[in-house]
Amino acid sequence: MTVEFNLNGRKVAAVGAPQSPLLWALRDELGMVGVKFGCGAGLCGACTVIVDGAQTRACQTSLADIAGKNIATIEGLSGPVFEAVVAGWTRAQAPQCGYCQPGFVTAATSVIAADQNATPESVLAQLTNICRCGTYDAIRDAVGLALETLRADARKAGGAK
Ligand code: FES
Ligand code: FES
Repeated sequence: MTVEFNLNGRKVAAVGAPQSPLLWALRDELGMVGVKFGCGAGLCGACTVIVDGAQTRACQTSLADIAGKNIATIEGLSGPVFEAVVAGWTRAQAPQCGYCQPGFVTAATSVIAADQNATPESVLAQLTNICRCGTYDAIRDAVGLALETLRADARKAGGAK
């Protein structure tokens, strides 16, 4: 079947069996290689994308399920939340081998975008990704830094009114 959906703001089509994982279409057909294959079983989150605003495991999402939906991959993320997350990740020096990090950054961007007033604890509770390098302490710091940046920006914007 051919499935049409929006990918990073543009309309695309992917061809495959209805139950074929979205992950294959993104990587093999559409060149979104920032979306990683890790466990293939919905556990590690290396394949995390954002579907209509929600963090989603692309290895567990079928092509048939995404017709007409809005998919964002790390390649297409932008805006203040993503920039704050990336800056937090950079300052905290979170990546080690880096393989899992696009999934973490994508998941964190989705979670924080949904509630910029969230506590670091509540954001971390929603990050169920796995890192084989054990970067969890740095990721905790990165999330805290991203939230601080967004709050500082909000205060500045409020003060400027
Ligand atoms: S590859 Fe999808 S959750 Fe691990
Ligand atoms: S940084 Fe290596 S798997 Fe997470």
